[in-house]
Amino acid sequence: MNQLTVLGIETSCDETGVAIYSGGAGLLAHQLYSQVELHAEYGGVVPELASRDHVRKLVPLIRATLNQAGMTGADIGGIAYTAGPGLAGALLSGAAVGRSLAWTWKVPAVEVHHMEGHLLAPMLEETPPEFPFVALLVSGGHTMLVKVAGIGRYELLGESLDDAAGEAFDKTAKMLGLGYPGGPAIAARAELGNPDHFTFPRPMTDRPGLDFSFSGLKTYALTTMQRESAGLQGEGLEMLKNDIARAFEDAVVDTLMLKCRRAIRESGVNTLVLAGGVAANQRLREKMNRMMSAEGGSAFYPRLDFCTDNGAMIAYAGWQRLGAGESIGLAFQARPRWSLMALCEPAV
Ligand code: KG4
Ligand code: ZN
Repeated sequence: MNQLTVLGIETSCDETGVAIYSGGAGLLAHQLYSQVELHAEYGGVVPELASRDHVRKLVPLIRATLNQAGMTGADIGGIAYTAGPGLAGALLSGAAVGRSLAWTWKVPAVEVHHMEGHLLAPMLEETPPEFPFVALLVSGGHTMLVKVAGIGRYELLGESLDDAAGEAFDKTAKMLGLGYPGGPAIAARAELGNPDHFTFPRPMTDRPGLDFSFSGLKTYALTTMQRESAGLQGEGLEMLKNDIARAFEDAVVDTLMLKCRRAIRESGVNTLVLAGGVAANQRLREKMNRMMSAEGGSAFYPRLDFCTDNGAMIAYAGWQRLGAGESIGLAFQARPRWSLMALCEPAV
């Protein structure tokens, strides 16, 4: 096994994450600073504020992570940072610090694809999934179904044609006045909602294929709100929001489950991996567990902290890539748009 000790840096959006992963000892330390409060008053991520905050927080967080592991720079054998996809300025702040540290410490640096980080996050758990598996990647920016034969061996089975699942949660929550980030806000309100009040559509489940479309559901929630809220205020209005949150969550969860079941059946692979921020959703996890046990297979997830953005998944993905001999030169760049499929090895 590759014994490298890798420092991973995540700054693609609104979380500053740093972690140290070692081949022998596994995950040695991880630290996360979330900018949620900074962006909350704007109802979403403000890119320029995000970049400035990463610049402020990253170096102290690297120090804290080294301290937590009882290490110094001399113990680090390689640096991995998220190069994309994500916000250009946010990515650049992580890339600049990561590449410079690697130069100072005279160790190799490697670019990590943020979605490959998410995809491999379940590998940090005590019982990791084995290849091949089908992965549902559900984050704020992406919804993808991918058949994974190994690291860098990905086949895209389906993706969202419009809003990502997390984006639909965020926009619907904003529209209902539930705040940011929308996923946890909707999930909390859905707990209080009546599941029988409304039934929302399950988009694109009645036709073949594994693509998704979530933007219509957001509009469905909006028109339901407009139609039903006339004359309502106070507790009545809040109860209506709870019921809409529940109907919306049930529709997204059901749609994701139906597509995953189809992917499992069509691919003949009976291991499912869920990753990305939306994989933190409890109702989604329960529904997928039930579906996978009925299919005679099993579902794997990262722990809740590692569903949303974090440095541990970047350190792990970087450890894999550095171990395979990859590294970059002294120049660095941000890749705001970067397809996961671009990572696939050329067919031999
Ligand atoms: O992976 P992530 O941290 O960042 C991106 O790479 O985008 O995902 C963030 C997304 C947000 O859209 C957030 O609303 C959603 O994940 N999310 C959830 C939950 N927790 C976070 N969605 C549904 N239920 C949750 N419990
Ligand atoms: Zn993410």
